[in-house]
Amino acid sequence: MEKSIIQSVRQSKDISLEQLKALLEMTDEDSKEYLFSQAREVTDDIFHREIYLRGLLEFTNYCKNDCYYCGIRCSNKNADRYRLSDEEILLCADEGARIGFRTFVLQGGEDPYYDDEMICSIVRKIKERHLSCAVTLSIGEKSRESYEKYFKAGAERYLLRHETADQEHYGKLHPENMSLENRKRCLRDLKDIGFQTGCGIMVGSPYQTFETIFEDIKFMQELGPHMIGIGPFISHRDTPFCDEENGSVSMTLILLSILRLLFPKVLLPATTALGTADALGREKGILAGANVLMPNLSPVGVRKKYLLYDGKICTGEEAAECNNCLRRRVERIGYHVTDGRGDHPDYTF
Ligand code: 5AD
Ligand code: FES
Repeated sequence: MEKSIIQSVRQSKDISLEQLKALLEMTDEDSKEYLFSQAREVTDDIFHREIYLRGLLEFTNYCKNDCYYCGIRCSNKNADRYRLSDEEILLCADEGARIGFRTFVLQGGEDPYYDDEMICSIVRKIKERHLSCAVTLSIGEKSRESYEKYFKAGAERYLLRHETADQEHYGKLHPENMSLENRKRCLRDLKDIGFQTGCGIMVGSPYQTFETIFEDIKFMQELGPHMIGIGPFISHRDTPFCDEENGSVSMTLILLSILRLLFPKVLLPATTALGTADALGREKGILAGANVLMPNLSPVGVRKKYLLYDGKICTGEEAAECNNCLRRRVERIGYHVTDGRGDHPDYTF
């Protein structure tokens, strides 16, 4: 039964709400393993068992937003706030390049302290020093004009999870001053400008249903993202969702596989949240169709402060330690970390 659904999804690259429900509800290990192996076949055909690394630089945990799920929301008075200087960011990028990363992801809260000129100048400096590297920005909702400036400065990728494509659900995760409409506008602008664009959701976020996940898939099919970031929701003690249940690892893995079948060429990270929810989560993610890992490149001194959720892994390790650890973990399951830049297969310079 489930096998025929899996085959049909793989062949048609489409899924109905009923099929989605049936797959997300699977508990039988053999059926799940069948789904994972199908997704793996698709990934291996395109990416040849090569895993891309992205060095994640969490450069500010100030944020003007107040998302109910997030540990660095502006009303969390317990968050110990920090900002990295140009020099600190560049030193981390240098270290990242030294240990073999060819993508740097500049991620931060929505922090107005860094105006467009500062962001562009950081991007330009990284690109000058590391010619063969890609720069990804993950700094939230901005105007189209701002996105255009970042692109001109040399950033080639942008990550902005849409969080949910359902209007009502969006309203339960965010305060009233944020809108799904603007989120979608940002993603469309980013793609239109020419960024390799990433959207995504948390699995098991409060009030999520099979229906909202189905809407997420419809939205993704319409957008055509180059990357899709998904990880389990993990509650943070200083947020309104502190008592909410965490998302399920099993459902995250199933959804990763479904996304791989629907979007064969998409870049799909096995996220830190997945590694936090399960000690072998990132390995399991790769074996379910993920092909990207995003090790932390932030200075060890600030890592514990960039806490979106409780229990985050790798907050005590140096970049080089995570790098070695991840390379070993990837080899152990029969995959290989590549030193390519890891652009989307259809991306042309
Ligand atoms: N649990 C899991 N993921 C989270 N994010 C934010 N807060 C949490 C949480 N509590 C995710 C969001 C955001 C990304 C940077 O991290 O999806 O887009
Ligand atoms: Fe950070 Fe293993 S990836 S210690």
